Amino acid sequence: MPTRREILMSTGALAGVSMLPANAKPLASAVQDEVPIPGSVDKALNIWDLKAMARERLTEGHFAAIAGGAADEITIRWNREGFDKIRLRPKVLIDPTQIDTRTTLFGQEHAYPVLLGPTGGHRSTHPDGELATARGANHANATMVLSTFSSTAIEEVVQVATNPLWFQLYVMRDRPFNRDLVLRAQAAGAKAVCVTVDTATSGPRNRQTRGRQRSSPSGGGGQPLLQGMKRSTSVESDIFSASREPNLTWKDIDWLRSFTQVPLLLKGILDAEDAERAIQEGVDGLIVSNHGGRNLDTSQATIEALPEIVEKVDGRIPVLIDGGIRRGTDVFKALALGAKAVLIGRPYRYGLAAGGAPGVSRVLEILRRELEMTMASTGRTSIAQIDRSVLWS
Ligand SMILES: Cc1cc2nc3c(=O)[nH]c(=O)nc-3n(C[C@H](O)[C@H](O)[C@H](O)COP(=O)(O)O)c2cc1C
Repeated sequence: MPTRREILMSTGALAGVSMLPANAKPLASAVQDEVPIPGSVDKALNIWDLKAMARERLTEGHFAAIAGGAADEITIRWNREGFDKIRLRPKVLIDPTQIDTRTTLFGQEHAYPVLLGPTGGHRSTHPDGELATARGANHANATMVLSTFSSTAIEEVVQVATNPLWFQLYVMRDRPFNRDLVLRAQAAGAKAVCVTVDTATSGPRNRQTRGRQRSSPSGGGGQPLLQGMKRSTSVESDIFSASREPNLTWKDIDWLRSFTQVPLLLKGILDAEDAERAIQEGVDGLIVSNHGGRNLDTSQATIEALPEIVEKVDGRIPVLIDGGIRRGTDVFKALALGAKAVLIGRPYRYGLAAGGAPGVSRVLEILRRELEMTMASTGRTSIAQIDRSVLWS
């Protein structure tokens, strides 16, 4: 079986870092050497290659459900453009051979600051669903955030996952059910709970709806975490879900706190005043997110919202970010602007579609290696050294 280094050499993926010694640690440890890399995901040089493979393998409906967003998908574009606009300042003649990407969040060490963000229904992308994602995360030594809309029970995912899981909560209309769900996630070993606060209503997902109309996707795998939950038979308006609670307000944070024993993060913060309020209400962390441009189109790009939130938070709690991260340079820029870590959504769903667990680990490996290359070229050998001085202006 070829080693990871041999595989990367054969695909040319190590070109450009050949100055790194083969035994440099902790470089080259993202994927265990014995991980088999079947099919063609090993040929993917970047996230865009995996996206192209996913497009070939999925029905139009399933692909649109992942790649699409709200309305005219302007926020999806802005999320990317926000990163592209930022210029880096290289630094030369600094020994880059001992790069350390480790970072600590809530007492948990992460080999590198990239997590798999919560996305629902992985079985609609691959028959092994969340189990394949968890295996991919294992190989790449990353933490996965399991969605309320997971198509696999958390207890099954935990059996497979070798890294601690985090859990994402959509507050559901059946209020007592939320407590049971969080207790269930905690009992299964979830190390943090991310409450998604930006989805009182989802956006007009035109591409997704059109894709569904054209290719009638099937096989979403169900929602085993929601078994036993009561659904509303009548809702206020058809812009709201029958199961997700639209009427979630600041006064509910205390209630969420009352049964959440692990760090509680709010996912979907874009506004600095909301960030301040979240701290006042006692939350432990924030995820700057616009839901990957799936809810409110023309909402601000996350990387552009990040600086004012970081300034307001002023180090009191960790700030994470997602939305549009497709390159190691994007991860680096987010860290430079004060994020403690990033989450990815679509990229690993593309990897999952392209090749199951190895596709997921390939995505993480690409981002990690690109982050290491960026650190080497900017003379920043540890995460703590990445600050605003790496940016051009
Ligand atoms: C197919 C898909 C399903 C998603 N499902 C959820 C979910 O169940 N809960 C949630 O909080 N966010 C969900 N999200 C949003 C992601 O957690 C994340 O905010 C977003 O994908 C980040 O942007 P990116 O896709 O550009 O990386 C979903 C995103 C996608 C693409």
